[in-house]
Amino acid sequence: MLVILKRNDEEISRQAAQLIASAVQKKPALRLGLATGGTMVGVYKHLVRLHKEGALDFSRVITFNLDEYLGLPASHSQSFHHFMQEHFFAHVNVEPGNIHIPDGTIRGNYEQYCAGYEEDIRKAGGIDLQLLGIGRNGHIGFNEPTSSLGSRTRLKVLNQETLDDNAKFFAPSEESPRCAITMGIGSILEAHKILLLATGASKAAAIAKSIEGPVTSAVPASALQLHPEVTFIIDDPAAAQLTQRDYYRRVLEMTALLTPERLS
Ligand code: PGA
Repeated sequence: MLVILKRNDEEISRQAAQLIASAVQKKPALRLGLATGGTMVGVYKHLVRLHKEGALDFSRVITFNLDEYLGLPASHSQSFHHFMQEHFFAHVNVEPGNIHIPDGTIRGNYEQYCAGYEEDIRKAGGIDLQLLGIGRNGHIGFNEPTSSLGSRTRLKVLNQETLDDNAKFFAPSEESPRCAITMGIGSILEAHKILLLATGASKAAAIAKSIEGPVTSAVPASALQLHPEVTFIIDDPAAAQLTQRDYYRRVLEMTALLTPERLS
Protein backbone atom coordinates (compact mmCIF):
# COMPACT_ATOMS: atom_id res chain seq x y z
CA MET A 1 0.00 0.00 0.00
CA LEU A 2 1.17 3.49 -0.84
CA VAL A 3 0.53 6.26 1.70
CA ILE A 4 0.65 9.77 0.22
CA LEU A 5 0.83 12.47 2.89
CA LYS A 6 -0.47 15.89 1.90
CA ARG A 7 -0.91 19.13 3.80
CA ASN A 8 -4.59 19.78 3.24
CA ASP A 9 -7.82 19.06 1.46
CA GLU A 10 -6.91 21.05 -1.65
CA GLU A 11 -3.68 19.10 -2.19
CA ILE A 12 -5.52 15.81 -1.69
CA SER A 13 -8.23 16.73 -4.17
CA ARG A 14 -5.67 17.73 -6.80
CA GLN A 15 -3.61 14.57 -6.37
CA ALA A 16 -6.66 12.28 -6.47
CA ALA A 17 -8.11 14.05 -9.53
CA GLN A 18 -4.72 13.78 -11.23
CA LEU A 19 -4.56 10.02 -10.62
CA ILE A 20 -8.13 9.52 -11.87
CA ALA A 21 -7.52 11.74 -14.91
CA SER A 22 -4.42 9.82 -15.93
CA ALA A 23 -6.28 6.52 -15.50
CA VAL A 24 -9.01 7.80 -17.87
CA GLN A 25 -6.42 9.11 -20.33
CA LYS A 26 -4.67 5.73 -20.36
CA LYS A 27 -7.94 3.81 -20.65
CA PRO A 28 -10.82 5.91 -22.05
CA ALA A 29 -13.38 3.17 -21.30
CA LEU A 30 -12.30 3.05 -17.64
CA ARG A 31 -14.70 1.38 -15.20
CA LEU A 32 -14.62 3.87 -12.37
CA GLY A 33 -15.98 3.24 -8.87
CA LEU A 34 -17.20 6.47 -7.31
CA ALA A 35 -17.85 7.69 -3.78
CA THR A 36 -19.75 10.55 -2.16
CA GLY A 37 -19.22 12.64 0.98
CA GLY A 38 -17.58 15.92 1.86
CA THR A 39 -14.08 14.60 1.15
CA MET A 40 -15.01 13.97 -2.50
CA VAL A 41 -16.33 17.44 -3.33
CA GLY A 42 -12.88 18.85 -4.18
CA VAL A 43 -11.97 15.80 -6.27
CA TYR A 44 -15.05 16.24 -8.46
CA LYS A 45 -14.37 19.99 -8.69
CA HIS A 46 -10.93 19.29 -10.17
CA LEU A 47 -12.22 16.54 -12.49
CA VAL A 48 -14.90 18.95 -13.79
CA ARG A 49 -12.23 21.63 -14.29
CA LEU A 50 -10.01 19.24 -16.26
CA HIS A 51 -13.01 18.23 -18.39
CA LYS A 52 -13.93 21.86 -19.09
CA GLU A 53 -10.31 22.60 -20.02
CA GLY A 54 -10.64 19.87 -22.64
CA ALA A 55 -8.14 17.55 -20.98
CA LEU A 56 -10.57 14.85 -19.91
CA ASP A 57 -13.20 12.96 -21.88
CA PHE A 58 -15.62 10.79 -19.90
CA SER A 59 -17.72 9.72 -22.89
CA ARG A 60 -16.66 6.07 -22.64
CA VAL A 61 -16.21 5.86 -18.88
CA ILE A 62 -18.57 3.53 -16.99
CA THR A 63 -19.27 4.47 -13.37
CA PHE A 64 -20.47 2.50 -10.36
CA ASN A 65 -21.27 4.31 -7.13
CA LEU A 66 -20.65 2.57 -3.84
CA ASP A 67 -23.90 3.20 -2.07
CA GLU A 68 -27.22 4.98 -1.60
CA TYR A 69 -29.54 5.59 1.34
CA LEU A 70 -32.56 3.35 1.48
CA GLY A 71 -35.78 5.34 1.19
CA LEU A 72 -34.40 8.42 -0.52
CA PRO A 73 -35.50 9.15 -4.09
CA ALA A 74 -32.92 10.55 -6.51
CA SER A 75 -34.57 13.97 -6.20
CA HIS A 76 -33.94 14.21 -2.42
CA SER A 77 -31.26 16.80 -1.69
CA GLN A 78 -29.36 14.35 0.57
CA SER A 79 -29.49 11.37 -1.77
CA PHE A 80 -26.22 10.25 -3.31
CA HIS A 81 -27.90 10.43 -6.72
CA HIS A 82 -28.41 14.14 -6.07
CA PHE A 83 -24.85 14.59 -4.78
CA MET A 84 -23.41 12.96 -7.90
CA GLN A 85 -25.50 15.11 -10.25
CA GLU A 86 -24.69 18.30 -8.40
CA HIS A 87 -20.95 17.76 -8.06
CA PHE A 88 -20.06 15.69 -11.12
CA PHE A 89 -22.47 14.23 -13.65
CA ALA A 90 -24.25 17.50 -14.53
CA HIS A 91 -20.88 19.03 -15.51
CA VAL A 92 -19.12 16.26 -17.45
CA ASN A 93 -19.91 13.97 -20.38
CA VAL A 94 -20.47 10.58 -18.74
CA GLU A 95 -23.22 8.90 -20.79
CA PRO A 96 -26.35 8.57 -18.61
CA GLY A 97 -26.58 4.90 -19.62
CA ASN A 98 -23.08 4.33 -18.23
CA ILE A 99 -23.95 5.63 -14.74
CA HIS A 100 -24.79 3.10 -12.03
CA ILE A 101 -25.88 4.13 -8.53
CA PRO A 102 -27.80 1.80 -6.22
CA ASP A 103 -31.51 2.64 -6.21
CA GLY A 104 -32.62 3.82 -2.77
CA THR A 105 -36.30 3.47 -3.61
CA ILE A 106 -36.46 -0.30 -4.01
CA ARG A 107 -38.85 -2.13 -1.72
CA GLY A 108 -38.47 -5.83 -0.95
CA ASN A 109 -36.45 -8.25 -3.06
CA TYR A 110 -33.28 -6.55 -1.85
CA GLU A 111 -31.16 -9.62 -2.45
CA GLN A 112 -32.27 -9.86 -6.04
CA TYR A 113 -31.67 -6.15 -6.64
CA CYS A 114 -28.20 -6.27 -5.05
CA ALA A 115 -27.23 -9.39 -6.99
CA GLY A 116 -28.24 -7.48 -10.14
CA TYR A 117 -25.94 -4.58 -9.18
CA GLU A 118 -23.05 -7.03 -8.75
CA GLU A 119 -23.95 -8.59 -12.09
CA ASP A 120 -23.82 -5.16 -13.78
CA ILE A 121 -20.30 -4.66 -12.40
CA ARG A 122 -19.28 -8.11 -13.59
CA LYS A 123 -20.79 -7.60 -17.05
CA ALA A 124 -18.94 -4.31 -17.40
CA GLY A 125 -15.72 -6.25 -16.73
CA GLY A 126 -15.15 -5.28 -13.09
CA ILE A 127 -14.00 -1.98 -11.60
CA ASP A 128 -10.60 -0.65 -12.69
CA LEU A 129 -10.27 2.11 -10.13
CA GLN A 130 -12.36 2.53 -6.97
CA LEU A 131 -12.48 5.83 -5.11
CA LEU A 132 -13.20 5.56 -1.35
CA GLY A 133 -13.77 7.84 1.61
CA ILE A 134 -13.67 6.55 5.16
CA GLY A 135 -16.01 7.08 8.09
CA ARG A 136 -14.88 8.03 11.62
CA ASN A 137 -15.78 4.45 12.49
CA GLY A 138 -13.59 3.06 9.70
CA HIS A 139 -16.44 2.27 7.32
CA ILE A 140 -15.91 2.14 3.56
CA GLY A 141 -19.05 2.54 1.51
CA PHE A 142 -21.65 1.84 4.19
CA ASN A 143 -19.85 -1.27 5.39
CA GLU A 144 -20.15 -0.53 9.06
CA PRO A 145 -17.87 -2.11 11.71
CA THR A 146 -18.44 -5.89 11.95
CA SER A 147 -19.36 -6.12 8.26
CA SER A 148 -18.13 -9.39 6.85
CA LEU A 149 -14.83 -8.90 5.05
CA GLY A 150 -16.24 -11.02 2.22
CA SER A 151 -19.54 -9.11 1.99
CA ARG A 152 -21.17 -8.28 -1.33
CA THR A 153 -23.63 -5.56 -2.35
CA ARG A 154 -26.50 -5.70 0.13
CA LEU A 155 -28.88 -3.89 2.41
CA LYS A 156 -27.01 -2.62 5.46
CA VAL A 157 -28.24 -1.09 8.71
CA LEU A 158 -26.33 2.10 9.60
CA ASN A 159 -24.65 2.27 12.99
CA GLN A 160 -25.09 5.02 15.57
CA GLU A 161 -21.88 6.90 14.73
CA THR A 162 -22.95 7.14 11.09
CA LEU A 163 -26.48 8.21 12.08
CA ASP A 164 -24.97 10.92 14.32
CA ASP A 165 -22.65 12.11 11.53
CA ASN A 166 -25.58 12.28 9.10
CA ALA A 167 -28.15 13.91 11.38
CA LYS A 168 -26.90 17.42 10.60
CA PHE A 169 -27.78 16.99 6.91
CA PHE A 170 -31.45 16.29 7.57
CA ALA A 171 -34.16 18.64 8.84
CA PRO A 172 -35.01 18.06 12.52
CA SER A 173 -38.55 17.10 11.48
CA GLU A 174 -37.22 14.50 9.04
CA GLU A 175 -36.06 11.06 10.06
CA SER A 176 -32.63 10.40 8.55
CA PRO A 177 -32.21 7.08 6.72
CA ARG A 178 -31.50 4.08 8.94
CA CYS A 179 -30.33 1.76 6.14
CA ALA A 180 -28.45 1.85 2.86
CA ILE A 181 -27.68 -0.28 -0.14
CA THR A 182 -23.90 -0.62 -0.31
CA MET A 183 -21.30 -2.52 -2.25
CA GLY A 184 -19.67 -5.01 0.12
CA ILE A 185 -16.09 -5.18 1.32
CA GLY A 186 -15.59 -8.25 -0.87
CA SER A 187 -16.97 -6.34 -3.87
CA ILE A 188 -14.66 -3.39 -3.17
CA LEU A 189 -11.60 -5.64 -2.82
CA GLU A 190 -12.19 -6.91 -6.37
CA ALA A 191 -11.45 -3.48 -7.85
CA HIS A 192 -8.14 -3.51 -9.69
CA LYS A 193 -6.90 -0.34 -7.93
CA ILE A 194 -8.22 1.50 -4.89
CA LEU A 195 -7.77 5.12 -3.88
CA LEU A 196 -8.85 6.08 -0.34
CA LEU A 197 -8.94 9.74 0.71
CA ALA A 198 -9.20 11.14 4.22
CA THR A 199 -8.95 14.62 5.68
CA GLY A 200 -9.23 16.06 9.16
CA ALA A 201 -8.50 15.05 12.74
CA SER A 202 -11.82 13.21 13.10
CA LYS A 203 -10.46 10.52 10.75
CA ALA A 204 -7.05 10.13 12.46
CA ALA A 205 -7.94 7.12 14.62
CA ALA A 206 -9.70 5.30 11.77
CA ILE A 207 -6.75 5.93 9.44
CA ALA A 208 -4.15 4.70 11.95
CA LYS A 209 -6.16 1.52 12.61
CA SER A 210 -6.77 0.93 8.91
CA ILE A 211 -3.13 1.26 7.84
CA GLU A 212 -1.20 0.06 10.89
CA GLY A 213 -3.70 -1.97 12.91
CA PRO A 214 -4.75 -5.59 12.52
CA VAL A 215 -7.10 -6.61 9.71
CA THR A 216 -10.45 -6.80 11.44
CA SER A 217 -14.11 -6.42 10.61
CA ALA A 218 -14.21 -3.96 13.54
CA VAL A 219 -12.40 -1.53 11.19
CA PRO A 220 -13.71 -2.26 7.70
CA ALA A 221 -11.03 -0.18 5.92
CA SER A 222 -8.33 -2.40 7.47
CA ALA A 223 -9.43 -5.04 4.92
CA LEU A 224 -7.64 -2.90 2.31
CA GLN A 225 -4.36 -4.29 3.70
CA LEU A 226 -5.29 -7.46 1.81
CA HIS A 227 -5.44 -5.62 -1.53
CA PRO A 228 -2.35 -5.41 -3.76
CA GLU A 229 -2.91 -1.90 -5.20
CA VAL A 230 -4.17 0.57 -2.62
CA THR A 231 -3.18 4.21 -2.31
CA PHE A 232 -4.19 6.25 0.73
CA ILE A 233 -4.06 10.02 0.25
CA ILE A 234 -4.38 11.74 3.61
CA ASP A 235 -3.75 15.16 5.08
CA ASP A 236 -1.63 15.97 8.15
CA PRO A 237 -4.51 15.98 10.67
CA ALA A 238 -5.81 12.63 9.39
CA ALA A 239 -2.25 11.21 9.48
CA ALA A 240 -1.59 12.40 13.04
CA GLN A 241 -1.89 8.98 14.73
CA LEU A 242 0.23 7.03 12.22
CA THR A 243 3.49 5.87 13.79
CA GLN A 244 5.37 5.28 10.51
CA ARG A 245 5.01 8.72 8.88
CA ASP A 246 8.74 9.13 8.23
CA TYR A 247 8.83 5.76 6.50
CA TYR A 248 5.85 6.69 4.29
CA ARG A 249 7.66 9.90 3.31
CA ARG A 250 10.79 7.96 2.37
CA VAL A 251 8.72 5.49 0.34
CA LEU A 252 7.14 8.45 -1.44
CA GLU A 253 10.54 9.92 -2.29
CA MET A 254 11.70 6.59 -3.69
CA THR A 255 8.42 6.11 -5.56
CA ALA A 256 8.85 9.53 -7.19
CA LEU A 257 12.35 8.47 -8.23
CA LEU A 258 11.78 4.87 -9.32
CA THR A 259 8.10 4.52 -10.30
CA PRO A 260 6.81 8.09 -10.79
CA GLU A 261 3.79 6.85 -12.79
CA ARG A 262 2.26 5.69 -9.49
CA LEU A 263 1.99 9.34 -8.44
CA SER A 264 0.71 11.02 -11.60
P1 PGA B 1 -17.07 12.28 4.45
O1 PGA B 1 -17.66 10.79 4.45
O2 PGA B 1 -16.21 12.41 3.24
O3 PGA B 1 -18.29 13.16 4.37
O4 PGA B 1 -16.31 12.44 5.73
C1 PGA B 1 -16.81 9.71 4.26
C2 PGA B 1 -17.53 8.41 4.54
O5 PGA B 1 -18.32 8.34 5.50
O6 PGA B 1 -17.29 7.45 3.80
